Formats: sequence, C-alpha cells, structure tokens
Amino acid sequence: MKARVWKVTVLPGDGIGPEVTQAALEVVDAVNSRFGIDMELADGKAGLNCIRKYGTNLPAQTVRLLKSSDCAIKGPMTTPEGKGSETSAAVKIRRMFDLYANVRPVRSMPGVRGLRDDIDLVIVRENTEGMYSGIDFMVDKNTAVSAMVITRKASERIGKFAFELAKKRRKHVTIVHKGNILKISNELLRKSIEKAGKSYRGFKVDDAHIDAMSQWLIKNPQDYDVIVTENLFGDILSDEAAMVVGGIGTSPSANIGSRYAMFEPIHGSAPKYAGQDRVNPVGTIMAMKMMYEWMGYERAGGAIHKAVDMAMKKGVKTHDLGGSSRCSEVGKYVASCI
Ligand code: IPM
Ligand code: MG
Repeated sequence: MKARVWKVTVLPGDGIGPEVTQAALEVVDAVNSRFGIDMELADGKAGLNCIRKYGTNLPAQTVRLLKSSDCAIKGPMTTPEGKGSETSAAVKIRRMFDLYANVRPVRSMPGVRGLRDDIDLVIVRENTEGMYSGIDFMVDKNTAVSAMVITRKASERIGKFAFELAKKRRKHVTIVHKGNILKISNELLRKSIEKAGKSYRGFKVDDAHIDAMSQWLIKNPQDYDVIVTENLFGDILSDEAAMVVGGIGTSPSANIGSRYAMFEPIHGSAPKYAGQDRVNPVGTIMAMKMMYEWMGYERAGGAIHKAVDMAMKKGVKTHDLGGSSRCSEVGKYVASCI
C-alpha cells in the first residue's frame, strides 16, 4: 500500500468513554509503530459533556474536524432523552456522512464465557433510516406517531453490503424483518435485500421475523453468518448477540459509508462507572481492529484480534468478565502483545 498519513478524529465521549478510548489508543500506538503506519490523531469534543458549554452535543468545530479527517474513533456518549432534546451525536454523525452500514461482528472469545464457543456471525444494521428516521411526533395531545421509513434504495444498498460481506465469509445471509405485521414496509425491505442478492451464486439466503430471530440467536447462534436488518431491529439484536458471546463490553462496531467511517463500541456511557478505571475496553479495542481492516491493513487488524485473545486467555479481564484487571491494564497488556 502507498505510504500515506491517516487523519483520525478521536471523540472520547461521556461517562466511561474517555477511559475505554484511552485504552484503545494505547493499542493504536503499538500497532502504528509495529506496522509503520503514519497516523495523526486529533481529539474532538462531542456528547452530553459539551451541551452546557457549546449548546450542542456536536459543536461546529468538531464537525469541521470530522470533515477534515479520514475516519473517526468514537467513545460512547450519553444521549439526551425526552421531547425537544437533541438528536444523539452518534446518529447525527451517521447521517452527516451517510454511514449506511453498521457492522457488528459477534464472535466467541477464548476465556470468555458465552453460550457456546463456536459463534461467529456479523449483524449488518441499516444505519440511515428505518425506525431511526427521526419522524416522531404528537398527532394530538394524546397520540404520538413514530415512523419506520424503508426505502428501496437504502434497502438494496444494505443488501449489497451484506452479500459482499458474506462472500468473504460463509455465504449465508439471513434477512430479519417483521413482515407479518409491517406488511408494506418490511416486505419492501425483504424484497429489496433479496433483489440485491440475486446475482450472488451459491449463497444460502433465508429470513426470520425479528421476534423469532431473538430466540434463535439464543438457541442456535452458531447457525448464523451474516444477519442483515433494519436500524432498530439491528440495535436491539446486537445487544442481545453481544450477551450471547459473553457481554456487551466486548462488542465493537464499524459505521461505514462510501467515503468515511466511524468506529465505536456498541455499549453506552455507563456514567455510574465513570472515572473508576473498571470497565471493559475490549469493545473499543476491537473497533480499532475494524478500523485498520477498513484502512486496508489486514495484518494490523489480525494482530489486534490475536492480542485481545491472548489477554482473555491469560485472564487479563475486567470485572464484567469475571476478572480483576483495570480498564487501563487491559489496554496496556493488549498493546504489549502487539
Ligand atoms: C448503538 C447505540 C446508539 C444507537 C445510541 C447511543 C444512540 O445504542 O450504537 O447501538 O441507538 O444506535
Ligand atoms: Mg444500541
């Protein structure tokens, strides 16, 4: 690959965000020096912590910083709730850069107790519309409406993404929807994804209702390869899937668009643990693996995966996984294995 300097924006976020991000950056430092990768990292402010000072969770200077970089590393942020409150910063960034695919790998890890040890699937969550359309309002004072927006274009696009991913894996795509109730929108979703897969030969394609899928994921998680679904269904299913392999603290995600990407753990900002150096940084560290792979550094990604496995095997684990290591210790240990 041609030598280049990567510009990466870092948004540490709220609550435990700065801690898990710091641990992940230790690993990034180690990877950059081992693989000779040139990277300029610049911190930006975003999240609930900036609302008082800037009046927004995504200040204009942060937007400029994001736009001048190749991709972003994002820690968890606390999302305001209630009528009139701001849209989540994550959702704003996903929309701003049209990061249409939210890719959430779910794998059994050595030394981490999950339901089985042979789980290896990826949830591909449509990231721009569906139940996250933002159409959510009072019709009158006693009635509210939220809309699940499904377009043919976004559904075909996420379908193609899922099939391309499955091509590099076990060539099995499962479409998750609720077509028995949402007869119009979810039929469009399923049909558009199927259409996107028409030209892929030798694939297994099946579909499941979101409710049924929630139990299959517990009963037979080893049977799935790529699961593709609507935004909210993917949000919910990915938390469940993370628990199936041992805990939400270990799960990463990549928000991918055609020209930009953002990498983050799937968990929240857990304010009650903030500043205690106690929570699990593995989700954020594994998001760094996804970042390097997106950049085209497959070996760097592989090195992170191996180093995390090593930490888990040796018992360098945080409390949530039954260990006694600090967040920072896990970061340092993984970095030392690189
Ligand atoms: C996630 C999170 C976000 C989402 C929140 C924090 C806005 O739950 O990335 O899964 O709902 O997408
Ligand atoms: Mg979520």
